[in-house]
Amino acid sequence: MTLDIAFSRRDVTRRSASRRAAIVIDVIRASTSIAVALHNGCAGIIPVRARDEARTLAATLGGSVLLAGERRAAKIPGFDLGNSPGDFSRERVAGKTVVLTTTNGTRAFQAVEGAREVVACAFVNVSAVARWLVAAGLDALIVCAGRRGQFCLGDAVGAGMLIDRLLRIFDGDVTLSDAARAARMLYTAQQDDLLGMLRDCEWGRSLAREGFAADLEICAQVDFTGTVPVMRDGRLVAEEA
Ligand code: MLT
Repeated sequence: MTLDIAFSRRDVTRRSASRRAAIVIDVIRASTSIAVALHNGCAGIIPVRARDEARTLAATLGGSVLLAGERRAAKIPGFDLGNSPGDFSRERVAGKTVVLTTTNGTRAFQAVEGAREVVACAFVNVSAVARWLVAAGLDALIVCAGRRGQFCLGDAVGAGMLIDRLLRIFDGDVTLSDAARAARMLYTAQQDDLLGMLRDCEWGRSLAREGFAADLEICAQVDFTGTVPVMRDGRLVAEEA
């Protein structure tokens, strides 16, 4: 198995994503919210790029559809939910389809269209994603959503944590790119205080300033769920691992 990392969605090329599983990581907050929503019985999540696209799609789908997403961290006016993991409670999302648009996370899913498989990963489901990948037996490109195309520490630590988990359970040969090795080193350095790392990183500080500090406590929970969000026909659905 080979493991590589794109430290932002802008580092992904069509060639780098094809033939591999793409594991999209946006610890703060899109991947966390997606995993929490599916854990709470959401029927599926459709990530889209733009607000208008989300509205049009939701109107087309009709029925049990919720609009969710943020711009500058805040809930988009007129949408049902923001991008706080706590918004995706069982009461709100069970049995519903969610159309989600976020600044970086949902765009990362567009960047990996054409990958063999597309999966969402955060601290909350990292061990389940590692088990899923071992069972799938695929090479992987771990894609950090980053922030406006730039490096984001929380995502890089999440990528390193996934690699660490994989190496502990996979007994075949694993080839790590230098980027993958660097991410694992970052995780090793931060593993004892993940919440502190999220509070201290650039995006964590911005989010706290906007009044979402409590979200970081959910994002920092490790292995809260065994749910693996996997893309099937354009929507992320729950698989267990
Ligand atoms: C993103 O997609 O950029 C993030 O999930 C933003 C956020 O934390 O709301």
